[in-house]
Amino acid sequence: MAALSNELTPGQAGASGKVILFGEHAVVYGQPALAVPVAEVKATAVITTLEPAPAPAGLETAIWIEARDLRRRYRLSEASLNDPLAAAVRLTLAKYQSAAPAASPAPFALVLSSTIPIGSGLGSGAAVCTAAVRALGAFLGLALSNAEVSAIVYETEKLLHGTPSGIDNTVIAYDQPVYFVRGQAPVPFRTAAPFTLVIGDTGLSKPTRLVVGEVRLAYEGEPARYGAIFEAIGQIVRQAYALIESGETDRLGPLMKQNHALLQEIGVSCPELDTLVARALEAGALGAKLSGGGRGGNMIALVPPEAAAGVAAALEAHGARRALVTEVK
Ligand code: PMV
Repeated sequence: MAALSNELTPGQAGASGKVILFGEHAVVYGQPALAVPVAEVKATAVITTLEPAPAPAGLETAIWIEARDLRRRYRLSEASLNDPLAAAVRLTLAKYQSAAPAASPAPFALVLSSTIPIGSGLGSGAAVCTAAVRALGAFLGLALSNAEVSAIVYETEKLLHGTPSGIDNTVIAYDQPVYFVRGQAPVPFRTAAPFTLVIGDTGLSKPTRLVVGEVRLAYEGEPARYGAIFEAIGQIVRQAYALIESGETDRLGPLMKQNHALLQEIGVSCPELDTLVARALEAGALGAKLSGGGRGGNMIALVPPEAAAGVAAALEAHGARRALVTEVK
């Protein structure tokens, strides 16, 4: 089971990265979107118990958070209310305390590391928080469902992104492809046949919340035009979902091209993304589009497996900071 593949031993957990396949931005306006885990990059959380020290009173002083990649180590009691990792820990502890009000865990350090590039749309923030919640849940003996993990991580995503649709925390917490409509129960699914994606990173980082805010302003200026584009994207997502479910994934290519063109129309592409999309197609991809918030970050290309290395090399030769190959299962 994919859901268990990220479980290590009690007190340890991993979480994959993710990409959005279809439907970004339109998902904020109620249209469906499809996202898949990217198992080739991962966040890991490990709980290490500490010797009880004659510390100042209070559970939060006995808990340390160590974010290895950020070179930060701090007590939970020192973390601000809008620190996403601290929020993940506090929300998980609150569940523990409501289940066992008299219990108190031994002092511990939560140590986090990740191979997911930060700020590139691969879901690093949601993955680190998911790994943290799962590791802490296992350490505390809490049996958290995927939905509970996702709900906690959604709270941390709000601190990072303002008003996220919830797709990142959902796909990462379920560790499965998901068909997602904001405000509805997510639909995790299995692909009928695996397919291969190359993910190309422009190396440009544009905060998702800024791009989402700009799209909101443009939508408010021209609601009918933008509404029609979001509708058209929603149609593409529904068609893509049907093709993935029936295993006709080689037919996804044209839908990716159409989705990219619609994202260009709402102004969220950029020359670097357009170049990588064009180069991927020239190098043998069946379809390609930007993925995520846009104006930078990543693009994805659907490729026949034998073309993956060539497409990845073409992307790296034309400005991609890195290209990653992933098999969607
Ligand atoms: O940039 P990412 O991969 O976190 O994706 C953002 C997706 C949007 O639809 C643009 C925003 C959202 O909250 O769904």
